[in-house]
Amino acid sequence: MQFQTRCVHTGVDKDATFLSATTPIYPSSTFRWDDLNTNRGFDYTRSGNPTRRALEENLAALEGGIDCRATCTGMSAITACMHLFQPGDHIIAGHDIYGGTWRLFDSVFRAMGFDFSFVNMGDPENIRRAAKPSTKCVWIETPSNPLLNLVDMAAVCQVAKSIKAITIADNTFLSPYLQRPFEHGVDIVVHSTTKYLNGHSDVVGGCVITKEKPHAERISYVVNALGLACSPFDAWLVLRGVKTLGPRMEAHQRGAQALAEFLEQHPRVAKVYYPGLPNHPHHALAKKQQRGFGAMLSFDLQGGRPAVEKMLAKLELFQLAESLGGVESLIEYPDTMSHASMTEAARREAGISENTLRVSVGIEHPDDLIADFRTALAE
Ligand SMILES: Cc1ncc(COP(=O)(O)O)c(C=O)c1O
Repeated sequence: MQFQTRCVHTGVDKDATFLSATTPIYPSSTFRWDDLNTNRGFDYTRSGNPTRRALEENLAALEGGIDCRATCTGMSAITACMHLFQPGDHIIAGHDIYGGTWRLFDSVFRAMGFDFSFVNMGDPENIRRAAKPSTKCVWIETPSNPLLNLVDMAAVCQVAKSIKAITIADNTFLSPYLQRPFEHGVDIVVHSTTKYLNGHSDVVGGCVITKEKPHAERISYVVNALGLACSPFDAWLVLRGVKTLGPRMEAHQRGAQALAEFLEQHPRVAKVYYPGLPNHPHHALAKKQQRGFGAMLSFDLQGGRPAVEKMLAKLELFQLAESLGGVESLIEYPDTMSHASMTEAARREAGISENTLRVSVGIEHPDDLIADFRTALAE
């Protein structure tokens, strides 16, 4: 089956009694046993639930994995992955990853005795330079947040393999419609399903997708033991959102390309970060590694925070809000919003300045989105 067909049909056909066309929601917390040895595959919803299982089958199929566990947030998916390791283990991550992931690693897991190095993964050799005998994992986020730097996954996986570390990729920014990390050698994929997979800004969720049995078993154990799984209702919402993933992503990236081209030629914009622009430093890699350029873009507005505040007050279609990947366009200021959990020094080191704004382009008509910016940028 082609990708779009899998989006619509995987994890459906679950209702043998009434043959409902969509997957039912099973809110039941517990399931009856036939006798002391037999149940129908589910006993308690923290451990497993038919609606959540349907979503997990769907997401595993979209990424090309053997198993998936759907969690209550993206952060809980990342937390589950960290439980593949133990205190003393060393993990190498990009220096410009999502601020919440950076905080989880730098504050929570470091305090538990885990060791982290944050490196510029633009050069995969930086991974080899940071490696230690205790290195167990390379954490990849591509494109990065918010500056849309790409990591060459095949090159990073090669280095990781040579130092006997596994690779985990956060594929939230592109979704499996536009990028499938397993095809480049990655071992485990995580998502914040809050974003494109659900796509309608009405649920928070996450998932971990595995391709090897030992990883699948450990993640399944940890998600149950820590109680990280998402509710049946949230699973159902994400499953419904996933059905339109393909057409949504096409509409999202059409708007993003048009907006990026408009902003790039605007005299008040100092720099646009969008892999779909030919002058983006990783444009060629994006063409090779991705099936499209996505719908996240950032730009530096001349004039610092006062100019940013003036422009934001004039925008009408772009809501000033964190998050991304929903059908409605959002704009946010990483310095005080998405990346406030990083120290100022870490933000500047990652290239985020007081001029930087991040945009999640929705599926509105590109002409309307451009017109909104044209008005907001007028002096
Ligand atoms: C790339 C990335 N990974 C993970 C997360 C965390 O996801 P959640 O907010 O669903 O916990 C986010 C949230 O913005 C994100 O952007």
